[in-house]
Amino acid sequence: MGYRIVIADPLSEAGLEPLRRDPEVEIIDVSHEDDPDALVRALRDADALIVRSRTKVTRDLLDLAPRLKVVGRAGVGVDNIDVDAATERGVLVLNAPNGNTIAAAEHAFALLLALARRIPEAHASVKAGRWERQRFIGFELMGKTLGVVGLGRIGSEVAKRARAFGMEVLGYDPYLPESRARSLGIEPVSLEELFRRADIITLHTPLTEETRNLIRRETLALMKDGVILVNAARGGLIDEDALVEAVRSGKVAGVALDVFAEEPPKNAELLALERAVFTPHLGASTVEAQENVARDTSIAILEALRDRPVRTA
Ligand code: NAD
Ligand code: MLT
Repeated sequence: MGYRIVIADPLSEAGLEPLRRDPEVEIIDVSHEDDPDALVRALRDADALIVRSRTKVTRDLLDLAPRLKVVGRAGVGVDNIDVDAATERGVLVLNAPNGNTIAAAEHAFALLLALARRIPEAHASVKAGRWERQRFIGFELMGKTLGVVGLGRIGSEVAKRARAFGMEVLGYDPYLPESRARSLGIEPVSLEELFRRADIITLHTPLTEETRNLIRRETLALMKDGVILVNAARGGLIDEDALVEAVRSGKVAGVALDVFAEEPPKNAELLALERAVFTPHLGASTVEAQENVARDTSIAILEALRDRPVRTA
């Protein structure tokens, strides 16, 4: 018996090789279709569905797929999948948590350096024919205190890079033993202490009911004047209206965001901020990471379809 596997979002072709070479697999790739009904049609007799972050796997979408056994997320966060609805229908949800760690950590650091040295504005200025050496004075990372919220895979890699840059690193993660932080050269602190002491704060938690709006008026008020914020995790971690106010007042001196409450972002006030660097959810967008997550997801999907043990999200 063959397996029909629907690919809803663009994925690395090289990473799909385990599916392509499997004689029992038929791939239905609707990722480049403009017609939204293409996915609906493909789901009617699908055994598996693979998504990145564009497709929202809602209760209604799951109802269109009566044969579905497994949904694979080619990445870490499963917040675009209604896991409860999938579980109620006996559909497994898998993710690929390891493949994009380095890409996301490097991107968070790239955002921080771009903000610190004002690279996007300076680049635009040179392209426009100007030579404004006095205008773009930055700040150094060495000796600054970085607060890392969430010390999982990505947060740990960010912390290692920060140590190499000569930064002091504070970390908050209520689900990990303090010894884990200490072994990485991170000082474990409470969230409040992190907010009070950090010069720069970077977020690396999943989006959950507990972490939604982690950065909001009340928590911004605890932070140092002139704090710098970096978010390459999930947009919902920050109350964007509160952030806009805080940047305008100077409380926050700079912000670097790869992720937004709504994507693509429509918050014109946020997008108009100066001292801000934005990227369109590119944290995992390297050749290596995309190949890794597509391959890991493909392998896990095949295991699940064959009723072999797999790690679920
Ligand atoms: P992870 O599961 O390895 O680490 C997350 C850590 O957050 C865990 O250690 C967990 O204990 C901690 N955590 C949970 N709730 C917390 C809380 N309330 N306060 C502090 N810490 C808390 O995940 P990861 O691979 O490091 O990914 C982290 C985030 O980055 C996820 O939201 C993921 O979706 C996102 N991400 C974004 C991109 C991107 O393209 N921008 C790429 C990869 C991952
Ligand atoms: C993830 O959670 O893995 C990221 O947001 C990356 C992605 O969506 O590709």
